[in-house]
Amino acid sequence: GKKGFIFDLDGVIVDTAKYHYLAWKKLANQLGFEFTPEQNEMFKGVSRKRCLNILLDIGGIKASQEQFDTWMVDKNDDYLEYIDNMDESEILPDVKKTLQYLKENNIPIALGSASKNAQPILEKVGLLHYFDTIVDGNHVTKAKPDPEVFLIAAQAIRITPENCIVFEDSLAGIQAANSANMISVGIGEHTILKDADFVFKDFTQISLEFLEKLINSKKS
Ligand code: G6P
Ligand code: MG
Repeated sequence: GKKGFIFDLDGVIVDTAKYHYLAWKKLANQLGFEFTPEQNEMFKGVSRKRCLNILLDIGGIKASQEQFDTWMVDKNDDYLEYIDNMDESEILPDVKKTLQYLKENNIPIALGSASKNAQPILEKVGLLHYFDTIVDGNHVTKAKPDPEVFLIAAQAIRITPENCIVFEDSLAGIQAANSANMISVGIGEHTILKDADFVFKDFTQISLEFLEKLINSKKS
């Protein structure tokens, strides 16, 4: 059947993890504890709310609902400041080439992200026009590894799940793609993304021949 491609945003298209890290670290420091880059690994693909819960666990802090909501807003305000200056130089290597190739071949392209800031980021880096649909943290109720975000994206581009190819940098995202019955392509390390159907270090390792093979595969 006809194929569709679904991209995660953070860690696949742009490296925003460093900005998320700075914003979470600032909050942690304000609350009187440290937050390390290693701990930030656990936050990849994880919703803002869940991240704050984990952060407060790390700091051993109990928050009232009101404090919790304030800190959610504070973190996001800081994050928005960090990403304000993003431009196309922050698109990860060869991502644009991949999107361009798919566009030229009339392949539907969707975004499937947990972020509520997905659309403004795509606008800032000038990639918004490649996407036929954006499904992000504003549209889902269940976080990855639940497949909801990718199933909604597939429906929006009218491609059956078995014919969707998902690019993801988080294990939760790979698991979400797998349980949606989609083809999962991990971007990162084999050791972390061990459940993926394919793993590449980054898009410079993905050839147009490989994309063509995926597009023409008849398996499903
Ligand atoms: C992505 C990132 C996570 C982030 C989540 C929510 O999945 O990998 O680190 O927490 O989006 O992002 P948001 O922009 O809504 O705070
Ligand atoms: Mg990601």
